[in-house]
Amino acid sequence: MKIGGKAYRTIWLGEDGWSVEVIDQTKLPFSFETVRLSHVEEAADAIRQMTVRGAPLIGATAAYGVALALRADASDPALERALALLGATRPTAVNLRWALARMRERLIELPAAERIAAAYAEAAAICDEDVALCRAIGEHGLGLIRAIAAGKPGKRINILTHCNAGWLATVDWGTALAPIYLAHDEGIPVHVWVDETRPRNQGAALTAYELGGHGVPHTVISDNAGGHLMQHGEVDMVIVGTDRTTATGDVANKIGTYLKALAAHDNGVPFYVALPSPTIDWSLRDGVGEIPIEERSASEVTHLRGLGEDGRPGNFQVTAPGSPAANPAFDVTPARLVTGLVTERGVAPASFEGLRRLFPELAQERAK
Ligand code: MRU
Repeated sequence: MKIGGKAYRTIWLGEDGWSVEVIDQTKLPFSFETVRLSHVEEAADAIRQMTVRGAPLIGATAAYGVALALRADASDPALERALALLGATRPTAVNLRWALARMRERLIELPAAERIAAAYAEAAAICDEDVALCRAIGEHGLGLIRAIAAGKPGKRINILTHCNAGWLATVDWGTALAPIYLAHDEGIPVHVWVDETRPRNQGAALTAYELGGHGVPHTVISDNAGGHLMQHGEVDMVIVGTDRTTATGDVANKIGTYLKALAAHDNGVPFYVALPSPTIDWSLRDGVGEIPIEERSASEVTHLRGLGEDGRPGNFQVTAPGSPAANPAFDVTPARLVTGLVTERGVAPASFEGLRRLFPELAQERAK
């Protein structure tokens, strides 16, 4: 994707060939800044503090974090320490665990002298694969948008999304936003309702920034507006990303997703979830009971980040002084509310059978 005419991925190697550069997403949309990561601790902090965020990008950053750790010490204990440090940064997105397991499998049998080069190569492969998976998700999701467009020729297609599942959340393209970019590029008149996504406002800050940068018509709405718009026929489809999807098709995503799915169900609006296969947790059957939900700082609820009247970024308290706040960061949408899962291999019903049909080798591997 391009910023100011320059093509960017969200993560890349620095000019020195070994440090890792990322976009500081905590600074968007008000300033575009990049950060250089030189140590595994910096990679872990970047994930924890959400300098980088979004399930696929968290996994990619962790993979490079392992490579940075091995530069300092390529021994077995150092590798295990790095995996543990990075694995403890955020609990819900399963791509983190997936990427670290893949790095371990690739590295553990190698002599220490070969590990650094292999770690960089594997991290780069994870990134390249993510770009290809997201592009394929885009193609399959585009088919859904084309079908809606065929039913209302020449009319605006209104798509609602929650949080940010665009190129900023992945290495490039995005998951939920990839079909939207492709539809826009081929001239389908798409318009996106962007949920602001309190408390951290990934929709208002990141999704709006991305869509605006690409020229996709969009409107930011308060999180509470979606149901009203659906009741009035203003939403043709909902598409969101996911941080972890169970083998049975239950979907964990940013807090508030479940309420959108309920409203969509009540109003007969199709509710799609876009995901690459590394986001499927084949070991889980019951999303509500089994997916760990990250509890983040109450300060994200009590305070809002924004530009003050003086045009400077700042944190502004919005709650009554002294009121306690709770901040569960994700919720689970049961499979019965999901119209379809848009994957790199096609659109599947949100069920074990649906996923198994598309990914028989993965379903079998995990069933062992
Ligand atoms: O807390 P975040 O910003 O990391 O949460 C991100 C989301 O919930 C995304 O929708 C999800 O990771 C899918 S990204 C393709």
